[in-house]
Amino acid sequence: MTAHATFEEAIRKSELISADLSKNPQKYRVLTGDRPTGPLHIGHYFGTLANRVRLQNSGLESLILIADYQVLTDRDSVGQIAANVREILLDYLAAGLDPFKHKTIIFAHSAIPELNQLLLPFLTLVSVPELERNPTVKDEIKAAGLNIINAAMLMYPVHQAADILFCKGNLVPVGKDQLPHLELSRKIARRFNERYKNIFPEPDALLSEAPTILGLDGSQKMSKSRNNAIFLGASEDETAKLIKSAKTDADRQITYDPETRPEVANLLRLISLCTGQTPVQVADQIGDQGSGKLKALLTDSLNAYLAPMRKRRLEFAKNPGLVSKVLNMGNQRAREFAIKTLDEVRGAMGMIYG
Ligand code: TRP
Repeated sequence: MTAHATFEEAIRKSELISADLSKNPQKYRVLTGDRPTGPLHIGHYFGTLANRVRLQNSGLESLILIADYQVLTDRDSVGQIAANVREILLDYLAAGLDPFKHKTIIFAHSAIPELNQLLLPFLTLVSVPELERNPTVKDEIKAAGLNIINAAMLMYPVHQAADILFCKGNLVPVGKDQLPHLELSRKIARRFNERYKNIFPEPDALLSEAPTILGLDGSQKMSKSRNNAIFLGASEDETAKLIKSAKTDADRQITYDPETRPEVANLLRLISLCTGQTPVQVADQIGDQGSGKLKALLTDSLNAYLAPMRKRRLEFAKNPGLVSKVLNMGNQRAREFAIKTLDEVRGAMGMIYG
C-alpha cells in the first residue's frame, strides 16, 4: 500500500472509531504520550489534552505515558527533567485527567523495565532501511539540526510500538505527524503475531479534529523550542504580555482569512476555541477596531477560559505528595500490564527455561 492510501485509510478508520467510542467504550484501551521537555502550552491543550479528558470522561481506560527516554533522541542532556515531569503532571491534573476518579493511568517509561525489554524482540522485526525512511524522524533530525544522529533517534518509533503494545493498547489519539510511527507499530504487531503467536492487537489512530495552533509568530506550530508558546500555567499578566507581542498585520479591518492573514486568523481561532463563537463571528464583532482590540479580546477570553484550570493547578502544586502519589500509582498499574505481556512474549518466543 502507498503511504497516501495508508493515510486515507487511517482517516477513514479514525472516523468509524469516533462514532463507535461512546457506544462501546469497553472495546478500547487508549494510550498516548508526551516527551517531558517542558511544561504544556495551549497548543497541547486544544490539540490533544482536551480530547484526552473527553475520552477519559466518557469511560475509556486511558494510559498516559511520560516518554522520558524519548527526550534524549535529539539532545545530549535531559535538562531539568524531574522539574519538567512535575510540571506536566500538574498540567494533566489541572486539565482534568483524574487517576483517582477514572480509569486513567499516568506513568513514565523509565519506571517500567518490562516495557523497555520489549524493544529487543521488536527490533528484530524491522529493517534498518525501514527506520531510515520514516518521514517524521527525518523532519525531527532536520528541525533539531543534528550533526550526529544517535541510534535512539532512529529506533524510537520501535520503542513507541513497545509503549503501545505493552498494555495491548488499541487506540492512539495522535496528530498526523505520528501516523508513520503508528503504521510501524501495526507492522510490528502483525509481524510478531505471524512469526510467533497471535497476542497483539493492531492499534488504530484517533486523529484529533482540532486545528493546528500556530505560535504567536503566526508562522510555525506553537512549540516551546520555538519560543512562541503560551503555557497553561502562565499567569494572567504573562499571558497578556505574550499576546501583546504576537505578530499581526497593519489592516485595521479584522477579517478571518487563513490564506492571506495567517497571524490574525490564528488569534481569531484561539478566541473561537475559548468562546465557542466561530472565527468569522469574532472577526465581525471586532470589525475595524484593529489588532489592539483583537489582542485585548484574546487576552480576556483566554485568561477567563484558563482561570479554573490555573486555579486548580496552583492548588495541586501546593500539595507536596500529590505528584509522586499519582506517578507511583500509575507506574505500579502500568508495570502489572508490562510484566504480563513480557511473560506472554517470552512464552511465545520459547524463551522460558527451567
Ligand atoms: N512521539 C510522541 C510525541 O513526540 C510521544 C510518544 C511517545 C507517544 N510514545 C508514544 C505518542 C506512544 C503516542 C503513543 O508527541
